[in-house]
Amino acid sequence: MRKQKILVTGGAGYIGSILVQELLSAGFDVCVYDRFFFGNNFNPHPNLTTIQGDVRNIPEALFSNVFGVLDLAALSNDPSGEMMPTKTLDINYRARRRVQELASANRVSKYVLASSCSVYGFQDGVLDENAATNPLTTYASANLLAEGAALTLAEKGTDMSITVLRQATVYGLSPRMRFDLAINGMTLGLYQNGVIPMMRDGSQWRPFVHVRDTSQAFLSVLEAEREIVNQEIFNVGSNSQNFQIMQLAELVAKGLDKQLEYEFYGEIDVRSYRVDFGKIARVLGFTTSHNVESAAFEISEALSKGELIPDIKTKTLQWYQELEKWNSRIKQIAPDGYIL
Ligand SMILES: NC(=O)c1ccc[n+]([C@@H]2O[C@H](COP(=O)([O-])OP(=O)(O)OC[C@H]3O[C@@H](n4cnc5c(N)ncnc54)[C@H](O)[C@@H]3O)[C@@H](O)[C@H]2O)c1
Repeated sequence: MRKQKILVTGGAGYIGSILVQELLSAGFDVCVYDRFFFGNNFNPHPNLTTIQGDVRNIPEALFSNVFGVLDLAALSNDPSGEMMPTKTLDINYRARRRVQELASANRVSKYVLASSCSVYGFQDGVLDENAATNPLTTYASANLLAEGAALTLAEKGTDMSITVLRQATVYGLSPRMRFDLAINGMTLGLYQNGVIPMMRDGSQWRPFVHVRDTSQAFLSVLEAEREIVNQEIFNVGSNSQNFQIMQLAELVAKGLDKQLEYEFYGEIDVRSYRVDFGKIARVLGFTTSHNVESAAFEISEALSKGELIPDIKTKTLQWYQELEKWNSRIKQIAPDGYIL
């Protein structure tokens, strides 16, 4: 039987690097399309193609004979969005809208948007998919606009099944590591300095999901009957992984088998929210199988074995700033396009 082909934009990122491994293990043919801002960490695989390019001008030919598009390419956090609002809207909204249109025009069967629970903003109560959205940052607004474009396309009528996954904040080890994410950053702080950096006052709630669990959510959508996923939004996570930040720090310390030491930073963070993950469990039978303690342990093991280097590339915004800095330096010293 011919293998189904999956196009993953941003497939070399933090989530994509794990998701692509899982897709290959499940027997899919995978094409990763990415700028490789954080490198191309894939081992060669007979069913994997990697293509370097920008989603803002993704070639239409890439959509030919594709079964599913998993749309992950983005400037992937709030600080990057605030530093580069226009680029964030171009990449995270306009490019995704074009990817959706090209996918539909080329008879792709399934499109899945990697959105975020940040579209809810910060509200009281436990928010399910019917809760009002309240995007408070450029990043969250761009996600909501991309969701709107996808669902409008679905309503207008397309043979393509369209699904939005609103992921909780992700954690866990990945070949493209991100220490700008809460649990990963706490783990690094405790491992490196014996202290967890904690945003005041620790009582604020946030939802979390492991990178392997969120990857499984994408696979579940690909494998589900169209009727149950088309035009649907799912929060991705589990009800048992809404945590208060202080509680999270306790779990990280437990995972590393260390005394909890923490250091507050910033103003009191009054932004707090909890998310309901009942729908994805009910409709897709989705369950999570990873937890904070074992993820923190796995990260600290990788650090201690030297398999994971916490360099600037692991801090998303700082790395983009570094690339921009080098870009302007190179432009200054290489007016003819070469250095030496
Ligand atoms: N990590 C989380 O906690 C989280 C939570 C909710 C939603 N999300 C969403 O999931 C997706 C993946 O997140 P991630 O954590 O893997 O982020 P990431 O920054 O690690 O990965 C994004 C990838 O997109 C690529 N990319 C960026 N701009 C591009 C462009 N113009 N053209 C082509 N490639 C480009 C980057 O090179 C990178 O490999 C993003 O859409 C993000 O907003 C992530």
